[in-house]
Amino acid sequence: MTNQVKPDTNPSCILVIFGAAGDLTKRKLIPALYNLKKAKLLSDNFAVIGVARAEMHDEEFRKRLREDMNQFATEEIETESWNWLAERLHYLSGDFDDDQTYSALKKAIEKIDHERNAQGNRIFYLATAPQYFAPVVEKLGAANLTEEADGQFSRIVIEKPFGSDVDSARQLNQELMRVLGEDQIYRIDHYLGKETVQNIMVFRFGNGIFEPIWNRRYIESVQITAAEKVGVEQRGNYYERAGALRDMVPNHLLQLVTLTAMEPPISFKANAVRDEQAKVLHAIQCPPPDEAARRTVRGQYGGGVIDGQPVPAYRSEPNVAPESSVDTFVALKLLIDNWRWADVPFYLRTGKRLGARDTEISITFKRAPFMLFRDTPVDQLTSNRLVLHIQPDEGVSLRFGAKVPGPILKLGPVDMEFDYEDYFGNVSATGYERLLHDCMLGDATLFQRADQVEAGWAVVAPIQKAWAEASPPDFPNYEAGSWGPKEADELLAADGHKWEETQHVSHSHRH
Ligand code: BG6
Repeated sequence: MTNQVKPDTNPSCILVIFGAAGDLTKRKLIPALYNLKKAKLLSDNFAVIGVARAEMHDEEFRKRLREDMNQFATEEIETESWNWLAERLHYLSGDFDDDQTYSALKKAIEKIDHERNAQGNRIFYLATAPQYFAPVVEKLGAANLTEEADGQFSRIVIEKPFGSDVDSARQLNQELMRVLGEDQIYRIDHYLGKETVQNIMVFRFGNGIFEPIWNRRYIESVQITAAEKVGVEQRGNYYERAGALRDMVPNHLLQLVTLTAMEPPISFKANAVRDEQAKVLHAIQCPPPDEAARRTVRGQYGGGVIDGQPVPAYRSEPNVAPESSVDTFVALKLLIDNWRWADVPFYLRTGKRLGARDTEISITFKRAPFMLFRDTPVDQLTSNRLVLHIQPDEGVSLRFGAKVPGPILKLGPVDMEFDYEDYFGNVSATGYERLLHDCMLGDATLFQRADQVEAGWAVVAPIQKAWAEASPPDFPNYEAGSWGPKEADELLAADGHKWEETQHVSHSHRH
């Protein structure tokens, strides 16, 4: 990704945000655009048109977003840069179902394009509820807003959730492709905006020492944890229909799996990388539902204590049914049936209201043979463990065994650590900067192709089927602030493994 040849100018364009009054716009998109401006990565010929139902003038839209920036900016707000962006922010009130919105939008685009010289380039960002994805695209098409005249672009950015199973994802793809070419569609997975996620490929393929041991001969198992302390917050309406499996696995966690497990692509070009990711997804075993159920554990949090504060059970959260059987935790075992990974279990777990906020990939290597230590006080050798810390700490650590000083032979595990912040300083970002900029440049490497999204859903399909057929467990089955239901431990214990405690990189060099 880093060595890719990029055009040296920042493309002129108009970014149209559908759902401009929503959370994503104020929390991520506007702060990200502001950071891009500060990094000199926006063209002067750039403008934003926010579309939403609420009535508002440009001035009010700007004023509101400026206030939101006090809360969500990741950088100190500097008047000159903000004013630069603010004067490029426009607002159009309209219903997404109403044809008139699109004729008004067309006029607004023409006018602003003329003022700003955006050269006919546009990006439509669908920060809306998912039921609007297909209708908005259809109406954009009908208004001739998706056509790309010579040398111009018209692209659509789509947020998750992209469908809720294989069939709905396929249907959405078909609906989009009635209007758009695949190269106009940018399906976002915000995990790919994270520096440490992008670093996985650089780490694996930009260094000579890891790739030769990155396979079933040396690796015993892989664990991927995405643990959150937060509960469902104000998203009960959405989450009741999603649950942890749909919300996190086919998208974010499978991104981490594919980047960890893929073969080296022949270049950083979008299709080269995405081909390799797709191959991993297709190689993941899809067992029959009863076996899938045995390899999966679902949980739902009860009340508990987090950071010393009592927190309610999932069933007592706003907009959640009092008898809800929705999962807020899932742990599962995947097997990848290819030459590199056959028989190496990939254990995945994610959940809300867990003991810590930690996302990491932990790779456990096979132990050294014991023979040499038979007649010593040592009774067990340490497995080497490499951890890619994704968040909140960003870094890499490697555990190995070392001799504890003294006359008696004793081994102790030690950790060698690399901390991003120590080496590169604190780069504050929303995670959307790179994604927005890549979309302007037409680089889809960090976006999902249609087949990848469908293949991701196919991986969880047997689990969805098994859960739909079985009665749900007796929820709640884990306490808020714990590490999930005990069955998650049993899942690994059955293979002679256990969940590694998530670690924090110690910022030792920082002070
Ligand atoms: C979102 C999910 O896609 O990712 C949320 O819908 C989840 O439920 C979030 O909290 C996690 O993202 P991050 O970047 O905070 O790890």
